[in-house]
Amino acid sequence: MTKIIRVCCGASCSNHSAEDLFAESEKRTSERKDIRVEKRRCMNFCNYAPTMEVIDDITQERNVHYEMNQIRLKQMIDMLD
Ligand code: FES
Repeated sequence: MTKIIRVCCGASCSNHSAEDLFAESEKRTSERKDIRVEKRRCMNFCNYAPTMEVIDDITQERNVHYEMNQIRLKQMIDMLD
C-alpha cells in the first residue's frame, strides 16, 4: 500500500456529494492494490467542500484537494501512478 485517499464525509462535504465522490473513488481504484480509500471527518476546509486528501503511506506526505468533482477526481487518481 502506498497511497491512502481520504474523502471528507463531514457535514459540509456531505452536502456537496462527498458520498458520491467516495463511491467513485472506490470504483476507480478497485483494481489498484497500491491505493486504499477511506472516509474521514471534517478537515476544517469546509468553505472548499468537498475536500479530499491523499497520504503517502511511506513518506506520510499529505496533499489536500479542494472543491472536488468527478473530473478532478479522475485527474487526481490518474496522477497517482
Ligand atoms: S466537512 Fe469536509 S472539510 Fe469540513
